[in-house]
Amino acid sequence: MKKLIFATNNKHKLQEVSEMLDSVISIQSLSDVGLEGDIPETADTLEGNALQKAQWVYERTGCDCFADDTGLEVEALDGRPGVYSARYAGDHCSFDDNINKMLGEMEGKTNRRACFRTVICLLENGVPRYFEGRVDGQILTERYGKEGFGYDPIFMPDRFAVSFAEMPMEVKNRISHRGRAVAKLTAYLKEANS
Ligand code: IMP
Repeated sequence: MKKLIFATNNKHKLQEVSEMLDSVISIQSLSDVGLEGDIPETADTLEGNALQKAQWVYERTGCDCFADDTGLEVEALDGRPGVYSARYAGDHCSFDDNINKMLGEMEGKTNRRACFRTVICLLENGVPRYFEGRVDGQILTERYGKEGFGYDPIFMPDRFAVSFAEMPMEVKNRISHRGRAVAKLTAYLKEANS
């Protein structure tokens, strides 16, 4: 079975992506391959950050690998926080801090349209290939649900009446930004390795 390193330390993401890929590819985490330290993500686009993270792993292992970068783009905030979603409420802020800031900035706003966008950069023999996934929805006025991570309690995807944090992981994976990007990655890898 082909092995790929996923350039992440986020346990939720690792579990989500491993579940989607395990019949095709064996995923190794950074700790599985003994890599430690913070991966730099200093680009100002999702594509740039995904490439930077994948290259960091490739330079240290020489192995095929992929990295993802995600942003929450809110219409009423002119696309913010976007590529800065993790640090929206400041350096070293928590998911809760980010949600509080978002609920504050969105108070009284009638246009609550938003989307999550994920870009995956796959490096095979050092050559990059990109896969994008997107889910549209809206920012809720308060938190709902306990599942997932990040902004999940305040994001309700279109055609659903619940937040991401109220959905079982399999349902979120089927429709989410990352799920859609991983589905494109999986389709490519299946084709390329058949
Ligand atoms: P990352 O680039 O995947 O680390 O994502 C940046 C930030 O976006 C994270 O710190 C989370 O706050 C948020 N985020 C990414 N994916 C999700 C998701 O599936 N649900 C909710 N928030 C997410």
